[in-house]
Amino acid sequence: MKQFGILTSGGDCPGLNAAIFSAAKTALTAGCKLIGIVDGFQGLLSKTTETVPLTAPLFDALHNASRLSGTFLGARNKGDAFKKAFKDNPHDFVDIFAKKCNALKLSGIIGIGGDGSLAALHQLTKMGEVPFVGLPKTIDNDIPETVAIGFQSAVAAATQAIDAIHMTARSHGRIMIVEVMGREAGHIALEAGIASNADIILIPEIPYKIEALQSKIQHITDQGQSHVVIVTAEAAHENENGAHITRDHQGRSRFSGAGQALQNKLAPLFSQEVRTTSLGHTLRGALPIAQDRLMATTLGALAFDKLHAGESGLLLGWDGQQSIDISLETILNKKAPVNLQGNYVAAAKKMGISLGI
Ligand code: F6P
Repeated sequence: MKQFGILTSGGDCPGLNAAIFSAAKTALTAGCKLIGIVDGFQGLLSKTTETVPLTAPLFDALHNASRLSGTFLGARNKGDAFKKAFKDNPHDFVDIFAKKCNALKLSGIIGIGGDGSLAALHQLTKMGEVPFVGLPKTIDNDIPETVAIGFQSAVAAATQAIDAIHMTARSHGRIMIVEVMGREAGHIALEAGIASNADIILIPEIPYKIEALQSKIQHITDQGQSHVVIVTAEAAHENENGAHITRDHQGRSRFSGAGQALQNKLAPLFSQEVRTTSLGHTLRGALPIAQDRLMATTLGALAFDKLHAGESGLLLGWDGQQSIDISLETILNKKAPVNLQGNYVAAAKKMGISLGI
């Protein structure tokens, strides 16, 4: 019986479990075995790799998990010593990787990851000559040419949260700022901001000007609206100042404080109280909505099929309605920012939503 592996790498997001479950069921139908590699890419390369056989006895648990966020298999995110060592010297890891795949009798790997983990897995599987099919996942939706698993659920959760902020902002006549994740891409902020009728949306692709925000808020207030809702992406920033980044005790960088920094600048300018809510990881742990589960289930099944049929070096993406084959070579190290000429930006402008300039 041929055996394949599947892992989830990088930050988690809604929809991962649905993809794992469908790949496992498809493997069973094809008469193959799929094993889950615990803790992603790092787990695979660690001395004590843990695996889970994703076979029928586990299907009940997987079936339940497929409705939930998180990842059944665990994942690791953020640059610790391992990540840096791999980046500096990927060749050092090829031997460990090849031996590990050999020991686990893997005929190929499905890797569900964001840009960083997909790049690393592609590099390693190519050098180690192990077939590899990738699936795109990240709430940030910053992988070129595809919708990423998890994004649509994050937008839905952010929209619901901003709707709630509108209610309380209105009651108290406040200026409320909602900060959402997304790294250097403003997709979540823009889409959830439009869906929830925010007054102002700030995205990293358009550095904002405080004077522009001040006059927009004044205008809204002059027109008799009691409250103002601002949605800011975590990496949105003023002019050339750059995104707000902090480092933890291990030197790991994080986007944080964009909303609070904006609050500090706006508060002295208005009599209304200015308050900030950061949605942070609640978007990563949001329940996967139907579209995400459908997309993840479809992609998980097709990814297994492709791997089984001998394809490799492929990212199986989603164009909004169906799967698309994307060559990993062509998208690595490319960015996928908000299209400033696209429909969403145009609609926001026509709706009178300020983008901060
Ligand atoms: O890439 C997904 C993401 O959730 C980003 O939106 C965010 O900046 C980052 O991960 C947070 O990562 P961590 O949980 O490792 O701090």
